[in-house]
Amino acid sequence: MVIDTDTAQDDCIALLVGLLDLRADLRAITMVAGNVGFDQQIRNAFLTLNVAGRLGSVPVHLGCRRPLVRPWESAENVHGDGVGGLTMDMTGCNPDPEHAVDALIRLAAESPGELTIVCIGPLTNIATATVKDPTFVDNVKALYVMGGSNNARGNITAAAEFNFYVDPEAAKAVFAAGFNITVIPWAPLTLEHAVFDPNQLDEIAALDTPLSRFFTRVCATTLDFDRSVGINGTTHPDSLTAAVLLHPELITRVGQYHVDIETQGELTRGYAAMSWGVHNLQPNATVVDTVNSAGFYDYIRQLLARKTAPV
Ligand code: BDR
Ligand code: CA
Repeated sequence: MVIDTDTAQDDCIALLVGLLDLRADLRAITMVAGNVGFDQQIRNAFLTLNVAGRLGSVPVHLGCRRPLVRPWESAENVHGDGVGGLTMDMTGCNPDPEHAVDALIRLAAESPGELTIVCIGPLTNIATATVKDPTFVDNVKALYVMGGSNNARGNITAAAEFNFYVDPEAAKAVFAAGFNITVIPWAPLTLEHAVFDPNQLDEIAALDTPLSRFFTRVCATTLDFDRSVGINGTTHPDSLTAAVLLHPELITRVGQYHVDIETQGELTRGYAAMSWGVHNLQPNATVVDTVNSAGFYDYIRQLLARKTAPV
């Protein structure tokens, strides 16, 4: 697998899933413009590699620094710097010189039909790869895409979820390209099944491992934001996306949908139109409707209980 990420807060936890789950074979981390400043996202990825004790073992490739046709918009109001102010000496933390889009194309072509990409940021790198290499779509086994909402409840506007809002043209192109796509939506799925409440956050803090301390720190800013909008805990859509790829038994219900993305609407930019059978459109994605929330929380807690050796 590859994780394509705008690394901040839950992206960091998704990287930990890819780095530490024994079922995962993480070949690369690819960076895309999204949550926070691009250079900060790079630092956040290296901080995460370090806390996992995996510095130097997985390449970090830098990708598209802005959306396809629009200016970049951040979620710094939600995430701050994305790691709660953590810093470290970045000497020796060098991104791979190969561009993320080229790395994605190469990795897919090296093992046709075997590479799954966990897409937890805007879809700019993926859309660009489909344009640069027409064989990319067929070479990729699957995309696990965190984005959109299955009931139009957005988190950046009333209609749109952040990843699709930031680069709606890229998202539209990806859903039209013919990939095998599984979608992990923001709502209702994340809000109902991937929020860790205060008791669970206390349990994680009590683990007192390097990973649990990292988790508490990187989630603190988002917790403040989530509380300010009435969510009772921290949201974990990105780590859920990586988790359900590796542990499909966590999924309890899916639906087949035709997904398309609004790029024109004044109030609906980035809205994910998820049409079920009644609209007579061919399905192009599997959308996860429900998961085993307790199982997901247990999985993350056990992951964070592991002892790692950061430098
Ligand atoms: C998505 O946007 C970011 O806030 C998170 O990293 C997640 O990928 C949720 O809308
Ligand atoms: Ca993300």
